[in-house]
Amino acid sequence: MGHKLSFPATKTDLQTDVVEIAEHTYWVGKRPPGLLLYTNSYLRTFKSLLSTAATSQGDLSQDFHLLVDPGPASDLAVVRAKVERCIGRLDQVSAVYVNHQDPDVSSSLGALMQRYSPQASVIASEETWRFIEYYGLLREQFVDVGQYCNGLPLPTGQTLFPVPSPYCHFVGAVMLYDPDVRVLFTGDLFGGFSGVEEEGLYADESDWTGIRSFHQVYMPTNKALLRAVTAIRALDPPVEIIAPQHGRVIEGALLEDFLGRMERLQVGMDIVEDAADKTTLTGWTTVLNQVLELARGYMGDEADERLRQNKELRECLHFDGSSVSVKMLGRWTVEQAVESLTLGQPDSVSTPLKFEAIVAAEDLDLPAPALVVDEG
Ligand SMILES: [Fe+2]
Ligand SMILES: [Fe+2]
Repeated sequence: MGHKLSFPATKTDLQTDVVEIAEHTYWVGKRPPGLLLYTNSYLRTFKSLLSTAATSQGDLSQDFHLLVDPGPASDLAVVRAKVERCIGRLDQVSAVYVNHQDPDVSSSLGALMQRYSPQASVIASEETWRFIEYYGLLREQFVDVGQYCNGLPLPTGQTLFPVPSPYCHFVGAVMLYDPDVRVLFTGDLFGGFSGVEEEGLYADESDWTGIRSFHQVYMPTNKALLRAVTAIRALDPPVEIIAPQHGRVIEGALLEDFLGRMERLQVGMDIVEDAADKTTLTGWTTVLNQVLELARGYMGDEADERLRQNKELRECLHFDGSSVSVKMLGRWTVEQAVESLTLGQPDSVSTPLKFEAIVAAEDLDLPAPALVVDEG
């Protein structure tokens, strides 16, 4: 649509620039160089659909200005300056959306709501509000997002869609979907640690490592991720841009790719439980090598190649010549490896490989890998 502007329109300098990530949707975060974790804030400005007369005369009071994830107190000066470049003054902010209560999302709220934007509403879940009200917020400023899960109508005529993402990573975390620009504000979900080399605001393949590590530390269980990704996939029209609260903005082919990896990612308790007994990793290594040996009989070197090419297994497997060992997430890693080896293969190949994995695990008293074997 050709509206990807930054101010100024030369090479983007994230320290000083505002970046328009979609029409009337601005990244207004702070980016000092060299940090591991950045916080993102966004400003969405809505022109009134109801009163064209007022807006054509440039009457800003007819517009609705939504600040999403206001950020930490330490970022407020920069966020404030960037928001002011878009809408003039912070007292023009109509509402502040807060994904959840963590200080990196919300600790600017005290100064923001008491000093700069006392006229604004704070939109959040009840669970989030219970904590953020300690910033000295007033109950009458609160809009409970739970009342609007079928659509949050704005006074300007547009509708936003809150999308609950329980335990990603807080029970009351709620994403926000803007169907007009197809931007989904996901909070910590799809957030990531940043690499020293990275430039610009848009994610590429290299961002996955930081996203994966961030989720493995801060997300409690794969179940929560799977549920959130399912909710994202159900959105209509489909999401085109993911705007997370950390790391970089995700769009294009990468979005579908990252959704697929996210719904399988093992995090939090998944990893803690699996790492409890180191000797089981030796067992899973034995299982994997038995399956791999059989797979080599069917497909030769392609078997090893398939495992090496699997991006999700990169951290979990160690290759040493012709032997491979399982470094972490034993059962999950074997399941993924078998899926890789059997993908697109006829039943005459995939069934024996899956049986080999199940039987080898059983021989070593390991839990059976969850592999679908065609009964036929
Ligand atoms: Fe958080
Ligand atoms: Fe966060």
